[in-house]
Amino acid sequence: PASGHVDRLGRALTDLRLSVTDRCNFRCRYCMPRELFGADHTFLERDELLTFEEMTRLLEVFKSLGVRKVRLTGGEPLLRRGLPALVGMLPKFDDLAMTTNGVLLPRLATPLAEAGLHRVTVSLDALDDETFQKLADTPMRVADVVAGIDAAREAGLAVKVNTVLQRGVNDDQLEQMAEWARERGLTLRFIEYMDVGTTNGWRREKVVPAVEIRDRLAARWSLAPVQPEVYGEVASRYRYIDGVAEVGIISSVTRPFCRTCTRARISSIGELYTCLFAASGTDLRQLVRGGGDNQRLAEAIKQVWGLRTDRASELRSEGGLLGPRVEMSYIGG
Ligand code: GTP
Ligand code: 5AD
Ligand code: SF4
Ligand code: SF4
Repeated sequence: PASGHVDRLGRALTDLRLSVTDRCNFRCRYCMPRELFGADHTFLERDELLTFEEMTRLLEVFKSLGVRKVRLTGGEPLLRRGLPALVGMLPKFDDLAMTTNGVLLPRLATPLAEAGLHRVTVSLDALDDETFQKLADTPMRVADVVAGIDAAREAGLAVKVNTVLQRGVNDDQLEQMAEWARERGLTLRFIEYMDVGTTNGWRREKVVPAVEIRDRLAARWSLAPVQPEVYGEVASRYRYIDGVAEVGIISSVTRPFCRTCTRARISSIGELYTCLFAASGTDLRQLVRGGGDNQRLAEAIKQVWGLRTDRASELRSEGGLLGPRVEMSYIGG
């Protein structure tokens, strides 16, 4: 990455993930297990959340610092009321995407596309209702997610699908899911199950390694590698020789990509996190609300980024232990 502000390891700040809520209408076992995110869990209060004006201002500052790619996340971002209005207010970026569970897209895809969203990534871990409902701990059905995917495509949004594979849970669906996406011309990415947060009972045996995913795909279809379009892309990409679709593998555990990690994350209350596995963030809301001008904000962000040394996934694969860390649903993955 040539331009922008670089951290201690020479990585530029070009990518931002903005969480707009910590709430979700699913309770995926690996993200928000109901025992811990049940009726007595305290979610953030509305007045703690950044307002749309505050988010817009922050993103203007990040843009001036070299950010080109923005992704809205949650929890479930579509639960944030008036989201299309936010999308319409934000400064323009080369890439503006959202990660969602999809079930609210039938209602929101068109207004979001009209407001300027470019694309969505929909999480879907199984194609049969039983596995899906067990994993996401929801009464919703696969068809509800698929209706969201269809609505997004009809609205003109580019769509990718994310599938987190867990050994013995949904890895039997690998070929079926690939076939399903391929037939529809959808880009599907298989994701290695990560030890994000501290509540999902992660065990290494549950990870389906990227090489195994690739071998299983290659046993069934002829694949050709696709070169990354953007610096620091997290997925290894392949295209089917005899088709139009692409398939990707995100090997966060067995082949970490920290070396090219250009991502910052903002929690819904305006904390800046420099890693998915960070224990805490830097409060930017205080500056935004306390009357600091954009120059001050820019200086604060540059200072944090300039000191950044994070490489948690690499450390883990070198045998290091992960310390206390933020929950996935709080930081949006
Ligand atoms: P694209 O721009 O479409 O490639 O999006 P993306 O893959 O960066 O984002 P998405 O929200 O679809 O995330 C896919 C998976 O990659 C999720 O499991 C994320 O948690 C994971 N991921 C994304 N960024 C990072 C990162 O910086 N570090 C780690 N360890 N995992 C990440
Ligand atoms: N490991 C890998 N990916 C995860 N996601 C949520 N929890 C995990 C985990 N433990 C995925 C979601 C979503 C994306 C933002 O991260 O399914 O697609
Ligand atoms: Fe909600 Fe996404 Fe977490 Fe599932 S993975 S509980 S859909 S935020
Ligand atoms: Fe970036 Fe941290 Fe993920 Fe490594 S573990 S790729 S530094 S967010």
